[in-house]
Parts: sequence; C-alpha cells; structure tokens
Amino acid sequence: MFESSIYKQRRAALLEAMRAAGQHGIMAFLGNSDVTSQGTHGSVFRFHQDSAWVYFFGVDRPDWAAIMDLDSGEEKMYADDVDLDDIVWMGPQTPVAEMAAWTGVSASAPMSQWFADVQRAVGNGRRVHFLPTFRKHNLLRLAAAAGQDAVASEEMTKAVIGLRLIKQECEIEELDKAGDLGFRMHEIALNNLRPGAYEDEIAALMEYFAKSNAWGLSFETILTQHGETLHNSASHKQIEKGNLVVVDAGVESLEHYVSDHTRTYPSSGKFTTRQREIYQIVLDCHEQAFSQIRPGITYRQVHLNTVHLMLEELQALGLVKGDVDEMVAKGIGGLFMPHGLGHNMGIDVHDMEEYGEDLVGYDPDQTRAKQLGLGNLRMARKLVPGHVITDEPGIYFIPALIEKFKKEGLGYGFVNYQALEGYYDFGGIRIEDDILVTPDGARRLGHHRLPATVEEIEAAFRQ
Ligand code: GLY
Ligand code: MN
Repeated sequence: MFESSIYKQRRAALLEAMRAAGQHGIMAFLGNSDVTSQGTHGSVFRFHQDSAWVYFFGVDRPDWAAIMDLDSGEEKMYADDVDLDDIVWMGPQTPVAEMAAWTGVSASAPMSQWFADVQRAVGNGRRVHFLPTFRKHNLLRLAAAAGQDAVASEEMTKAVIGLRLIKQECEIEELDKAGDLGFRMHEIALNNLRPGAYEDEIAALMEYFAKSNAWGLSFETILTQHGETLHNSASHKQIEKGNLVVVDAGVESLEHYVSDHTRTYPSSGKFTTRQREIYQIVLDCHEQAFSQIRPGITYRQVHLNTVHLMLEELQALGLVKGDVDEMVAKGIGGLFMPHGLGHNMGIDVHDMEEYGEDLVGYDPDQTRAKQLGLGNLRMARKLVPGHVITDEPGIYFIPALIEKFKKEGLGYGFVNYQALEGYYDFGGIRIEDDILVTPDGARRLGHHRLPATVEEIEAAFRQ
C-alpha cells in the first residue's frame, strides 16, 4: 500500500469531481471476494483485488466494502473481523478498524451493515452511485443492496476515469518498477528461446520470475509461433527453426501496477530477408509513433500516421499499390494491423476497460470508427501529461482475413493478393513498449529497453 495520505487525497479528489458535476447521494464501493474453482474454500483461485478498490482504498483483502457520502463527506469501510474458526484456517488477521485507519478512514462496521446502509439510502430516495463491474458476484451484491434495477453511475465512472487516466508520481514510480521487472522477465524469454524449446516451457520460466519477484503476470503470456493470431497464449508446441516468435507479456507489481511489452524474435537468432523486411516496417512504425507522442496530439492521429507509414512501406515491398491517403481512408491498414496502436495502462493492463472502452479511450468529442483497425483503437484521446499508453504496432498475415478481403472486394484494388499468397505462412510481428506522456513529449517506462532493432536482436541471440 501507499501512504494513507495518497488514498485520502484520491478520495477527496473524487468527492470534489462528483460535487462539481452536481451529484448527490452516496458512492458505494465493493472490493472483490475470493473465487473458488470447486466451490469450497480449500480451492480458491489466487485472490485478485478490484482495481478501483486498489486505487481508492488499497486494502488487499477479500470482502471489503465502503461508502462515501457525497452530501456529508463521511466515509465508512465495512468488513468482518475474523472469528475463531477463521483464525484456525487463516491465522490471526489485523482488525478491520485498524486496517481502515491505514487507508485514512476512521469509521468501520461489519459487512452486513454495508447492505443495510445502502438499502437505507435507497429507501430515503437518495441516489446510489457505483461503478460497473465484470465480477458477477459483485453484480449480485450490488443488486441485493441497491435494487435489481440499479445501474452503474455514468457520472461516477467518468469521475474515476478522469482521475485514474492521469498517473500520479507514486504511480509512475510503480509503473517504472513494473517496467523494470517486465524487462527482466522478457530477458528470460530471450535467453531461453531456441529451436527445440517448448513455448509453454519458456512462458513458465517467465511466470516463475513474475511470481517470485512481483504479484505475478499482468495477463496470460502470449508466446507463439503463430503471431498472426493476436492473443495466442503459449501452448505445448516445440519451437521450430526459421519461425518468428511473438512474446507479449507483462508483470503486475506487488502494488498491482503493470507492464506490457512485446518483442518478436527469429527462433534461429537471425531474421530471413523476408522477416527482416516486415520487421523493419513494424519497428519504423513503432519509432515514428513514439516520436509523435506528446501533449496536444490525439492518439487517433498517431494511429493514423502509423498506418500511413506502414502502407507506404508495404507499397515499397509491392504488397499494396495506390494512393496511401486513400488506402488509409478505406481501411486497408486493418488488413495488416486489425488492432489499434495501443491502449491505456495502469493498474489494469487495458486500464479501466471494464468501465467501457469508449468512455475510457475516447474524448467526448470523438466517435469511434467502425472500420477494422481504426475501429479497434482502444485509446484515441488527445494526449496530456500523465497518460500512460502502449505503442504496439504490428503486421500480421491472417489467411482467413486476406481471403475475406479478396472475396468481398474490401481491398478496393489496392491489395496485391497474389504477392500476399507468399506470406500465408509468415505469421505476425508486434513490437510494444509502455509510454508515459510527459509535459514536453514522452518517455518509455522502466529504466532499460529490450533489444528492438534487427542488429540488437541478432546480437542478443549471438551472446
Ligand atoms: N498485451 C496484450 C494486449 O495489449 O492486448
Ligand atoms: Mn498491449
């Protein structure tokens, strides 16, 4: 946990934002509960706390709740102190009142009182604000307390997004730490990747590092020779000579801040000509995007500029042909990069997307495109200092997608399908770093950078 002043300041800022938006009533918070795999408490999955709870209260224990009163400014935390049976199974636990005090809240009560207090607010005709949640258990608890028809508060959601999008100094420190750990974890991949090794064997070594040096992984590691499948987890496949291997992985720190890096390596340590050509395009796109990230530009524009460069360079290879502006407008970029340039990152790897991708990633005056590629952009906002985003362009040759474009005429005469047939067995390439927007530009998070150029990667394999 951070110092209690951090949590107090965050809650004060939320209260102020809600009041400034003219809101009244109460804000109800729920932390997460344990989730069992087999229905008994001998089989719980590793506990993972709710991200908003981490942000505003910090207590990293299951079954906590809180209420903030928008009108009186009172705050109360709720959880049950353990009984003897709990002590037998779980050991002694810090008393609830003491833990609440750590987070700067002086009032506490048993969990049953949270339901009663929310119900009383509803009964008194007061508005109950709460955040969207993807945890079914919390949905059920919210419905039990606030009523079946209660819906998440858009005002509260927007206020929380407004705060969490702009990272504080203490968060940037944590993100740097996570970046350093992510770097070391990726080095394990680099050091163990060779023909004959198994994808899941390398992923397991990485996970061992993540669990012994941090909370664990920030998401299930993508480590695959089929990089054209965007989210392909490591499987029990042996790495073969001559393949490209996409390694997309991150660490979650003990304070629950994350990293998310991607590198693509030639399994034999040396790129073939064809692999190098495509790799260089992706790297040029990644570097150009990084050079353009600064306050004032929208990430939508950086995405579009990236796609523009990608198509220009693919044109030089003869894979597309025609006016590049027109190609960008027609969405030809989506054939090669069917995802966006990046996403927000922080406590969650796709930060806060459970609140709605558009609310998190789009300014009120921006509308999300429908097109493949641009429409998949998760972060389009005008950049401001404190934003933390990923810069992760990729080029993928997805036979089914190419065939669809061909059959449905979606290439509008720009795509050289005949040349693309030679790439059906190519796979995909993605390069990703985590970026902090600073007052005068941007910097990468973490103090080291994974090898990125062709020369750096081939040199790393020779060591
Ligand atoms: N690293 C996984 C993703 O960004 O979707
Ligand atoms: Mn990512």
